[in-house]
This record gives sequence, structure tokens and C-alpha cells, in this order.
Amino acid sequence: MQLSIIVPTYNEAPNVAELVRRVCAALERVAVESAAGEPGIPGGFEAEIVFVDDSTDATPDVIREVAASASLPVRLIHRTIATGGLGGAVLEGFTAAESDACLVIDGDLQHPPEKIPELWERFSRGDVDVVVGSRYAGGGTSHGLADRTRVLVSKVSTAVTRAMFPIRLKDVSDPMTGFFLIDRRAVDQAMLRPRGFKILLEILARRPLRVAEVPFDFADRHAGESKASVRQGVHFLTQLTALRFGKMSLFAVIGGLGAVANVAIVWALTQLGVGYIVAAIIAAEATIIGNFLLQERFVFHDMRHSAASGWLRFAKSFTFNNAEALVRIPIIALMVESWHFSAVVATALTLVVAFFVRFVFHSLVVYAP
Ligand code: GDD
Ligand code: MN
Repeated sequence: MQLSIIVPTYNEAPNVAELVRRVCAALERVAVESAAGEPGIPGGFEAEIVFVDDSTDATPDVIREVAASASLPVRLIHRTIATGGLGGAVLEGFTAAESDACLVIDGDLQHPPEKIPELWERFSRGDVDVVVGSRYAGGGTSHGLADRTRVLVSKVSTAVTRAMFPIRLKDVSDPMTGFFLIDRRAVDQAMLRPRGFKILLEILARRPLRVAEVPFDFADRHAGESKASVRQGVHFLTQLTALRFGKMSLFAVIGGLGAVANVAIVWALTQLGVGYIVAAIIAAEATIIGNFLLQERFVFHDMRHSAASGWLRFAKSFTFNNAEALVRIPIIALMVESWHFSAVVATALTLVVAFFVRFVFHSLVVYAP
């Protein structure tokens, strides 16, 4: 089997029959083309549809009924506990899927099944981990967003999100889409914390992936109502904060530990009769090295495999931290002498600024993808 089509559903009874019909029709085309030896599409194409359903209406019955006569195998996972909502359902679909290639599509036909062959064709070239169905790439549209407010919310949140992850989302015009085809082996499920709707964002933000996009027209709902809500909006904001600042707060904690260790080492060495300057230098270098090891292990562990070699990362981090410690001294002097800051305030301010600069430098340079 080459492709598993995962459909998360929550009360989509009037939509699933039409969805299965259109998915089957679209994939029959792929199967016929591959039998004819179309370049880029391997022969003997097989696919399945996996519904991951949390419905309280007749959706599961309709799915079972449709499954009996569909031209593709249709499986139903009906969950009694809807862990993680839509995002959790998608991850459960990844686990249950027969194939590594997993295409996620909404159950309400806002994502056109006729686009699946194009996503598959792009994916099967084999040079990317994920193909994103995008409303905002050239040729895509978002006209199915119900009203002006949702259009605005979608555009603004997409822009903010992309600004917060300038590197990871560099090639992704629509990180909030629910229509994508991914190699599930590229997804580190243990690291994901699915909360609500934005599972693709969670996947892309946690790990550097190779991405391609295919534009599509986000259509009107076939029937029923959207399950998006203010609650989903709150989920999204929590998710964004955790994804972005989770790293930064860990970085801060490790920096804080380093500062404490620094003082402790100076104290211990001076007790042993080592001169103050030498003790300070040894303590500074020891904490710089210790912090680097902790950051590697706990903060940037997911970015290591795509970054330069361990020694090169160390060299960059070590050089930067030493340079920064040296540069800070004349800056403090300047603040105290010329601008009449107290020494404590000047030191504290430079440490805060240094913290952000250090974080940005490590994210963008030391662990550059
Ligand atoms: N299993 C499961 N559990 N499925 C769910 C749940 C849930 O708790 N909540 C929603 N779904 C299913 C719906 O049944 C539908 O198939 C799909 O997820 C999308 O839900 P909609 O209610 O249609 O949401 P939408 O159209 O507002 O949101 C879509 O577009 C957004 C972009 O504007 C989704 O694709 C979002 O992922 C996407 O961000
Ligand atoms: Mn929808």
C-alpha cells in the first residue's frame, strides 16, 4: 500500500458518503495513470481511507455503510475518548495507517479530493517530507472561510505565526492548513503535544522538515457547521506560546543554573586559595561549557541533526559566549561612567539583553538548519 488517507471527523454524517465517492474517483485516476506507467507514479497503486471519528451523531454508521461498497478499503476508528481533539485524531490516524505516506484531509469537502493526485505526484518525487496543500500559495484561495472575520483572523494568525518561526516556516505559506501529505517517519510523535486544530503547525515547528506546497481552493462546506470556535482560538494561542517560548524558558532556566554554578565555583576555588581573577575565569569557562552541554541535551536536541557537527556547534557557542562576556565589560563601564547607571542596574540590564541575543544567536546560527 502506498497511501493512507486520514480523515478526522466530528459529526460529519451528511458529508462522508460524498467524500468517499470523490476520494475514490480521484484515486482511480492515479491508479489508471500508474498502470499506464505515468512517470513519477509507481505502478500498482494502492490506497486506503482511515476515518478517525469522535462523532456523537450517525457518522460511524454512515461510514460503515459506505465502506461496504467503496472501491478503496475504508477503515473506521471510532474513539470514545477524543484525546487531543482534531490533532489527536490525526496522530492516531498516523499510527493506524498501513503506509508511511499519510494524507490528511477534512471530512467536510472543504479540501478538494481531486487535488490528492497532485499532492501525491509531488510527494512521490521523494525529495520532501511533507507536501502542504496551501490556500495562500500562488493560485490557492480561501473563499470557503465563512466570513470576513475568519478571513482576517486566518491571515493575521498566519502572518504572526510565520514571523515567530522565520526559519522553520520559511517555505510554508499556510502552516495552519489541515490538508497535507506527510511521511509519518518524519514525525516525532513523542515530541508532539496536540492541542486542537493546528497539528501541522505543531509538526513543522518542532522539527525541520523538507516542505513543498501545492495550492488549492478552500471550498465551502458541503453540509453542516464548522467546529472551529473561540475555544479552538485559545488552544491555538497556548500552542503558539508553548511552541515558541517553551525553548526560550528552558534556555533561561539553564542560563540561571549556570549563573548559580558560576558563583559556587568562584567561591569554592577562592576557598582553596586560588586567586580571584583565575577563579573567575575558570568558573566562567566551566559554566559556558556546562551550559552548552545542557542546551544540546535539553533545548536544541530536536535541531541538532540538521545543524553543523557537534564540534562546530561547540566552537560557535564557545566563541560567542566568550566574546559576549568580554564585550559586556566595556558596555557596563560605559553605562556607569557616562550614563550614570548604578553598577548593579547596568550589569542586570546587560545580562537581560545578553540573554536574548544569546538565544537568538543559538537558534539562528549555532543550530541553523
Ligand atoms: N476526530 C475529530 N475530533 N475530528 C474533528 C474534531 C474532533 O474533535 N473537530 C473537528 N474535526 C474534524 C471535522 O469533522 C472536519 O472533518 C475537520 O476536522 C475540520 O473541522 P471543521 O469544523 O470543518 O473546521 P474548519 O473548517 O473551521 O477548519 C479547517 O480549516 C482550518 C483552516 O482555516 C481545518 O482544516 C483546520 O485544521 C484548518 O486549520
Ligand atoms: Mn471545515
